[in-house]
Amino acid sequence: SRTIGVAVLGMGNVGAEVVRIIGENADDLKSRVGAPVALRGVAVRDLSRPRKVSQDLLTDDPAALVARDDVDIVVELMGGIDPARELIRTALQNGKSVVTANKALLAEYTGELATAAADAKVDLYFEAAVAGAIPVVRPLMQSLAGDTVDRVAGIVNGTTNFILSEMAQTGADYAATLAEAGRLGYAEADPTADVEGYDAAAKAAILASIAFHTRVTAADVYRQGISSVTADDLVAAKKFDCTVKLLSICERVRGADGSERVSARVYPALIPLSHPLAAVNGAFNAVVVEAENAGRLMFYGQGAGGAPTASAVLGDMVMAARNKVHGGRGPLESTYASLPIASIDDV
Ligand code: NDP
Ligand code: HSE
Repeated sequence: SRTIGVAVLGMGNVGAEVVRIIGENADDLKSRVGAPVALRGVAVRDLSRPRKVSQDLLTDDPAALVARDDVDIVVELMGGIDPARELIRTALQNGKSVVTANKALLAEYTGELATAAADAKVDLYFEAAVAGAIPVVRPLMQSLAGDTVDRVAGIVNGTTNFILSEMAQTGADYAATLAEAGRLGYAEADPTADVEGYDAAAKAAILASIAFHTRVTAADVYRQGISSVTADDLVAAKKFDCTVKLLSICERVRGADGSERVSARVYPALIPLSHPLAAVNGAFNAVVVEAENAGRLMFYGQGAGGAPTASAVLGDMVMAARNKVHGGRGPLESTYASLPIASIDDV
């Protein structure tokens, strides 16, 4: 059978782990895909930095790598909107499947990219874009596709959860803990995205879109970050047997007349210590899904960091590679309902 060629764009916290796992697990990947998987190249910005990959595979020209005929799957782990958006669109239009962890991009452009994937009959997968290692995108898109999801809520940003839980448990300093989250590979390249809630809002937009089969963008999400949460707030919370967590809440809001709207919001909230979300500490995430027939489901695990996120990326890569070998295409709706967005005052 033919070899499946993979291009990895970005070799930072996540990309480096993806490259490592592709190298270490080549035999397993071959048997799971049904064909060998070969790394064709890795795009980075700075070619002079030492990397744990053969120098021949490195390039600072991601567009040329994406254009290669022997690349079947593009794994985008650069982050940011440009040039990631154009690279992904070009890859899809040229019949390559795409795996991405880029929630900032997806929160704005899933519609455009999903259309490009549908037109070219290729896969666009993004399990790693929400809650790191935790499978939550695929369960919502596949396992619950026959149910009606009413609510998706939880902790979806590892950096802020790490900061809040360190501050609550050890009285650690906000700035020092944020710097530590950067060193551990949890924080975004610009950590403002984490602490001001933009990253959680992007994830809420993605979750609301797939849970409610509609289009929600980051701009539709009410957002408050944690930068104004102080050590005194956490001490006060403890006195009331509570802690503070940055919550992302996506709900289907039904009016008395039967009309439906979507509410998506991100803000720091007081959580009773007896609540399961209060026990989610460090860079762990947890997402609770409520569906009409399934009832309540809870997803929990490592929400940030190179290796956990790479696990989700590799899962998507194997799915896309299997489809390249055996035919077929993963689920991605090309038609969506258009539910109005509820204002924060309405919930
Ligand atoms: P990093 O900043 O650590 O790595 C980004 C990589 O992309 C670097 O290797 C960088 O090159 C390369 N890069 C950036 N721009 C370009 C460009 N224009 N051309 C070529 N290469 C480029 O990011 P992360 O690995 O932390 O995150 C990657 C993506 O995954 C982001 O979308 C992020 O939001 C997402 N994500 C991250 C998680 C995490 O825990 N870190 C978890 C889930 C998703 P160079 O090394 O030369 O600077
Ligand atoms: N910066 C993100 C976080 C990475 O801390 O959750 C995982 O998406």
